[in-house]
Amino acid sequence: MQNVAVASHYAVHLPAPDDFAFWRERARGLVQCDVPPDRVAWVEPGATGDLFGDSPARSERRLPVPPAEAPPVRASQRFLAVARSAALHSDPARFGLLYRVLWRLQRYPRLMEDKADIEVRRLEELAKSVRRDAHKMHAFVRFREVEEEGGMPHFVAWFEPDHHILRAEAGFFMRRFANMRWSILTPRGSIHWDGESMHEGPPARRGDAPSGDPVEDLWRAYYASIFNPARLKVGAMLSEMPKKYWKNLPEAALIPQLIAGAQAREARMVASGSRDRGERPATLEGIGTAIHACRMCPIGELDNRAVMGEGPLAAPLMIIGEQPGDQEDHTGRPFVGPAGELLDDYLQAAGIDRRQAYVTNAVKHFKFTWKGKHRLHQSPGAKEIDTCRWWLEAERAIVKPRLVLALGASAARGLLGKTVSITRARGTPMRLDDGTELWVTAHPSYLLRLDGEAREEQARLFAADLAAVRERLGELAG
Ligand code: URA
Repeated sequence: MQNVAVASHYAVHLPAPDDFAFWRERARGLVQCDVPPDRVAWVEPGATGDLFGDSPARSERRLPVPPAEAPPVRASQRFLAVARSAALHSDPARFGLLYRVLWRLQRYPRLMEDKADIEVRRLEELAKSVRRDAHKMHAFVRFREVEEEGGMPHFVAWFEPDHHILRAEAGFFMRRFANMRWSILTPRGSIHWDGESMHEGPPARRGDAPSGDPVEDLWRAYYASIFNPARLKVGAMLSEMPKKYWKNLPEAALIPQLIAGAQAREARMVASGSRDRGERPATLEGIGTAIHACRMCPIGELDNRAVMGEGPLAAPLMIIGEQPGDQEDHTGRPFVGPAGELLDDYLQAAGIDRRQAYVTNAVKHFKFTWKGKHRLHQSPGAKEIDTCRWWLEAERAIVKPRLVLALGASAARGLLGKTVSITRARGTPMRLDDGTELWVTAHPSYLLRLDGEAREEQARLFAADLAAVRERLGELAG
């Protein structure tokens, strides 16, 4: 690879502790110039480590430039996925480790598969710890309302991440609380959303965030409603909700009393044969928050995140799928993977604007099993669908669509509470308990699994179902 005069040591100054793209660019150039890992110091802002004491600009000028004919750098998809998360860890040695693994990958392209390799293992540990931190942030950020000049509500939350995840997770909160003005303050920096754009601010202190206001009552109500005494495991709960976060969580005050009352409540549940969950959240934001903590079935305990529905509050059409897939779980949005793309194409062809529909799933968490490093979709069981119906009904009660379209048997069960045959149910509208019109069709993933004539036939039926829904929506609007 080498054709370049290589000095003995280099320092790379990262502009920000979470700048993976910058690390990747510099690492690629250094590998192409054949600079071994022990000759590079990776320096974070504010840290020492540059042996020459050079300024960032001077260090940058000293870096070797790869020759135009340098071969491309090898980095497997697995490496990139793990590296992207690991780069956000607070361990100061992470960028050096990333470079060592990237360097070794050039000689051993399958290095990431070697689970016994100590460096690969460390990288996986870092990535896991970052993912866990992000998971905690999604679940434990708590906004308090403050009134700004002009009476505009502004929601402010305090959170203490272990790692540099703030910027990476901003999109999650932006999508989830798109219509609110909010700020998340942390000791590592702050982010502010004004309903249209995001901007970053300096690190904050706990005292900069308000403590306690009526919003807390809502959180307490959600938590009490999702707390399932039958599944109470105190050790697991402490590891899921470490005490460190309790001081920010209004509902944490309930934990001792909920634990104390758990046995009695469980006995009542068993006796009544019902799942006594209390009040449903009255807003989509409330549901979006509460489903993260939902453990009423085991799916929520996998390494996944809850995916909330999305779309206009008063959408005339509600489209319901089965459950989020791998990509939906990564992005936190429904129907963004291959099935979503196919659905978008057919909706467009039928003249249905997805942006005017509320799109959600019968089950809110991704159910999967690990196969090597891949997460394989598993269909939710009838009991899991029935349990999650609580949230689907809560969404439907708020959106109040004129027409509901169920994609596949799981979605239909989520609405009807019983299994129906798609072949028999499609094409003829049904009525839900409250009179809302329900149309049932196949799930787009079903089409993806077919080929040849079978696919053509199902594609034709699917297109015809959507066209009928489009026509019916027109009638209902008229
Ligand atoms: N399949 C579903 O049923 N829902 C999604 O959100 C994605 C794929």
